[in-house]
Amino acid sequence: MRVRGSELVGLFLGFLYLSVTPMSSARFVVEKNSLRVTSPDKIKGTYDSAIGNFGIPQYGGSMAGAVLYPKENQKGCKEFSEFSISFQSKPGSLPTFVLVDRGDCFFALKVWNAQKAGASAVLVADNMEEALITMDSPQEDGSSAKYIENITIPSALIEKNFGETLKKAINGGNMVNVNLDWREAVPHPDDRVEYELWTNSNDECGVKCDMLMEFVKNFKGAAQVLEKGSYTQFTPHYITWYCPQAFTLSKQCKSQCINHGRYCAPDPDLDFSTGYEGKDVVLENLRQLCVFKVANETNKPWVWWDYVTDFQIRCPMKEKKYNKECADGVLKSLGLDASKIEKCMGDPDADSENPVLKEEQNAQVGKGSRGDVTILPTLVVNNRQYRGKLEKGAVLKAICAGFEETTEPAVCLSGDVETNECLDNNGGCWQDKKANVTACKDTFRGKVCECPLVDGVQFKGDGYTTCEASGPGRCKINNGGCWNDSRDGHSYSACLDFGNSKCQCPPGSKVMVLKHVKILMNAKRKRHVIVLNVVVKIPGEVTSALAVEIFSISGITTPA
Ligand SMILES: *[C@@H]1O[C@H](CO)[C@@H](O)[C@H](O)[C@H]1NC(C)=O
Ligand SMILES: *[C@@H]1O[C@H](CO)[C@@H](O)[C@H](O)[C@H]1NC(C)=O
Ligand SMILES: *[C@@H]1O[C@H](CO)[C@@H](O)[C@H](O)[C@H]1NC(C)=O
Ligand SMILES: *[C@@H]1O[C@H](CO)[C@@H](O)[C@H](O)[C@H]1NC(C)=O
Repeated sequence: MRVRGSELVGLFLGFLYLSVTPMSSARFVVEKNSLRVTSPDKIKGTYDSAIGNFGIPQYGGSMAGAVLYPKENQKGCKEFSEFSISFQSKPGSLPTFVLVDRGDCFFALKVWNAQKAGASAVLVADNMEEALITMDSPQEDGSSAKYIENITIPSALIEKNFGETLKKAINGGNMVNVNLDWREAVPHPDDRVEYELWTNSNDECGVKCDMLMEFVKNFKGAAQVLEKGSYTQFTPHYITWYCPQAFTLSKQCKSQCINHGRYCAPDPDLDFSTGYEGKDVVLENLRQLCVFKVANETNKPWVWWDYVTDFQIRCPMKEKKYNKECADGVLKSLGLDASKIEKCMGDPDADSENPVLKEEQNAQVGKGSRGDVTILPTLVVNNRQYRGKLEKGAVLKAICAGFEETTEPAVCLSGDVETNECLDNNGGCWQDKKANVTACKDTFRGKVCECPLVDGVQFKGDGYTTCEASGPGRCKINNGGCWNDSRDGHSYSACLDFGNSKCQCPPGSKVMVLKHVKILMNAKRKRHVIVLNVVVKIPGEVTSALAVEIFSISGITTPA
């Protein structure tokens, strides 16, 4: 079985340790939303509930509903349609909050089944008396990933006792009304939101990595608008592991770590002999941290988002481009100072601390109300860990909930984000200034580098370093990027308007033809040179069915 990188925390690492040890001393803080029972009177009041780490919590908002406890399928592990149960609320009535019991299957599956039956939110009653925990999505299970993606309703875990209270009230024939309130789930002290994303450059660690990469790509536009307007201060972070002293010379530590075992990442394919090694990931993570540092120094911290998304697209592991050379290409196209970044990265072979990575290890440990970071990816907004699906709209809500009321930027109110990233350095994309053609396109997701369609002519290429006109009509645009010239009122072109060939010297080799003419002209310079539209063979040249430009000497003498 292939085990994915992101779940390796404390599991398959064997040799590697987090500065935060998840099992023992870690302080895992459960992020709570508030649950208020508004009827019946007997049980009115506020109760704790823990936000599930999937679905879309309504950060900054609240939601009212009527609680329903199904008569069958009470754990929600099967489809409710099998029991002919529907939670679809009738028009005009309150939405249905479904209460299910913990146990027998994944939390996420219960929520998914309830959503499919029409629930608007799910409350999961704990089956033991304990402090609330965070309901996480199942790790890397391919089949569950498919539905987790589609969970759009919020969910919360409630304590066992409170679950019993609710069930008793419902079974007693009461209408149980509940308000779920996320308005205090994120502190909102002032008009600037500080947030962090704990991320990873490893692009081959399965479902969670794919979701993370998709999120970064989709969120980039909004992140950059917020950052440029100084509404937010964003900081990217990278988890690193370390190798215990006794093992620093082992093969595993050597392949997974830099700086003599001080900073490590799990091998992407868990095979120490082939493919990329853990230390390749640590190095790229370090580079991305340095990109942020250098960009932040020039007051353009948002360039990190460009670098990270461009690197993802241009330098994937599966194309064997996850390396320094490719990274340098991305740095160059974004106009970043590669030498500064190199300097920031330091010497990975040195037997000493790297200040940038040391800082990251320290930041992993929680302080005050802040929990330790042990899950990848983790988003922290105003020092609170975000819970829910890592999705643009949901995350934007959480960030917007972090502004003091009335200080939210327009993007929080309208929900639409406009970006003008192509104005800056052409967004790092290919362009042909002469022909005024660019591959940079502003979209609601932020910029994309995509070869354009111009006057019906499709350009093809990677969008970053090359784009070439292709197909019919391509010679209209900048002569298809090919050589052309005009002499004596006649034009010559190496562009062929059909087929897939690139530039090609014209049939019969136009260059040769022109040489001929030149020679002829030199030899008989006192004569008029007239170009006739007559086909003439030039000795030694191949002629084709295509029109070949023909030259002739008129024989009229002119004064020198
Ligand atoms: C999730 O939603 C997508 C797009 O709406 C759909 O194609 C897909 O079948 C859904 N997956 C499941 C498991 O329902
Ligand atoms: C980024 O720059 C800002 C302002 O110059 C500074 O306050 C912040 O600490 C910097 N962040 C990092 C991670 O260096
Ligand atoms: C280049 O094209 C854009 C639109 O595609 C246009 O707005 C701009 O004025 C053009 N620039 C020049 C120099 O022609
Ligand atoms: C080259 O081709 C372009 C586009 O087809 C045309 O506008 C231009 O005048 C040509 N240049 C010469 C020197 O013939």
